[in-house]
Amino acid sequence: MKITVASTESDFDFAAASRVVGQICGRPDSVIGLSTGRTTGNIHRLVWQIHRRVSFDTSRLTFFGLDEVTGVDPEYAGACRRMLLTEIIEPLSLRPDQFLILPTRSSDFCAACRSFTAELQRRGGIDLIMLGLGENGHLGFNQPGTPFGSRAWKTVMDPALESRIRRETSTPDSEELGGVTLGLADIMRARRIVLVAKGDNKRAIVRQMLEGPVSESVPASILRLHPDCEFLLDSKAAADIDIEKLRQS
Ligand code: GLP
Repeated sequence: MKITVASTESDFDFAAASRVVGQICGRPDSVIGLSTGRTTGNIHRLVWQIHRRVSFDTSRLTFFGLDEVTGVDPEYAGACRRMLLTEIIEPLSLRPDQFLILPTRSSDFCAACRSFTAELQRRGGIDLIMLGLGENGHLGFNQPGTPFGSRAWKTVMDPALESRIRRETSTPDSEELGGVTLGLADIMRARRIVLVAKGDNKRAIVRQMLEGPVSESVPASILRLHPDCEFLLDSKAAADIDIEKLRQS
């Protein structure tokens, strides 16, 4: 297993940003998937800060969002689209066609999911996807219990996130909130994956993901079956795992 442990949070951010920059420099027409959340915000900001200092070609690049909140305005600050625009797409001055994400609202989410994955394929498929890790082991909005064979789909969000978004957007209980996400099978088709996890709150789930059984009850455990997945952790998230033993497995 490929596991990298950064001793500080800033080393972690730097290592993760370097994976994205390295991918773009090595293949300027890369299709790269990004996740939102507390883990990835600083990584995204570092990518464009590095670009300002040592310019590299971003003119042929595609970034896409792994998942999106449904039932909210796409301009809501907590929508993945808006977060990625603010954190990385706009500072890099990318063209609109260089950023793909599933919609927050649609009369036919199944069709939207199909055209999203078809467009990724049309662009050559996913070269790299950087995944955050939910405290319950979710990837994107694929919650525990999601079949490993799942394809892009409309699903539910975890209750804590749902109540926060409901509060922030003043969405009444009568209106449905959910998530739309690449499925686990879509994620596994990426040529290369980097799973990023930092902080004490990820300790327990990192251990389950890496040392527990590969099981649909911990969606992220599927990544152990991928031929090119790096688990990039900070020392807090890695505190409970036996790194040397895992590296040899
Ligand atoms: C949300 C997002 C995921 C993200 C996860 C981790 O659920 N939908 O894509 O990976 O949170 O978030 P954080 O980094 O804030 O822990």
